[in-house]
Amino acid sequence: MEIAYTIKSVRSHVKAARGKGRKIGLVPTMGALHIGHISLIEAAAKQCDCVVVSIFVNPTQFGPGEDFEKYPRPLEADLEICRNNGTDIVFAPAPDQMYHDENLTWVNVEKLTEPLCGKSRPGHFRGVTTVCAKLFNIVLPDIAFFGQKDAQQAIVIRQMVADLNMPLEIVICPTIREPDGLAVSSRNQYLNPQHRQDAAYIYKSLEKCRKMVNAGKTETSEIIEEMKQLLRQKSSIQIEYVSIVDAGTLEDIESIAGKVLVAVAAKIGPARLIDNIIIDTRK
Ligand code: PAF
Repeated sequence: MEIAYTIKSVRSHVKAARGKGRKIGLVPTMGALHIGHISLIEAAAKQCDCVVVSIFVNPTQFGPGEDFEKYPRPLEADLEICRNNGTDIVFAPAPDQMYHDENLTWVNVEKLTEPLCGKSRPGHFRGVTTVCAKLFNIVLPDIAFFGQKDAQQAIVIRQMVADLNMPLEIVICPTIREPDGLAVSSRNQYLNPQHRQDAAYIYKSLEKCRKMVNAGKTETSEIIEEMKQLLRQKSSIQIEYVSIVDAGTLEDIESIAGKVLVAVAAKIGPARLIDNIIIDTRK
């Protein structure tokens, strides 16, 4: 496995792989790798001949007062996970490789970045799309792999790639869950044991929604209220939003029909957690 700390070095490793006719897969991460990331690396290894994992805690997607400084950075453990799971190249740039003193060019996807997480995290998606555009330009992958847990991020990145005619495919991989349903996330490590138990209620609320839809309920306001009631059973959970939106436009809907995204964001102790499911009534 090659480890590149500079743009020049990762470009030369990728160029060599491409020269041998290899299909390049990129898994962009902020490190603190877990089984969710491993599933992305495995998907990349299945569909590509050369897997590049980027590890970069991107400062521009964190707002003031968010967890940029304390975000975990266990680089040695991350490299070991990459090594053991079929990664060919790790790109772990220092911040000054990715951003000059004054970055004047930003990629901003309109509309899709306004609802859900966009409401409480202004500028977050602009940071995500900008760093992903940079990573795509640096690595020039054939395919980039993202997780469904960050549903809005995945939709926003797909839109950017389509709008800017970027020559790569975006593959979205399923959310990986703990046995109690909690979506695996690097931020789960902020939870104390009590908060960790309570956090399972986020997925419970999504399951509640699925059950209600299966039982024939369609009115989203009623379903959202029931989901919130369930979440309120745990006083540690501060709900940020419970939303049911069109899975393509991310606009609120009044009644469940077609492909919908059911999404929850909540703070539990120091951790802000998000999760979602897709319900497709056409299936
Ligand atoms: O999902 C993440 O870990 C980050 O948002 C990403 C895509 C690596 C961009 O920094």
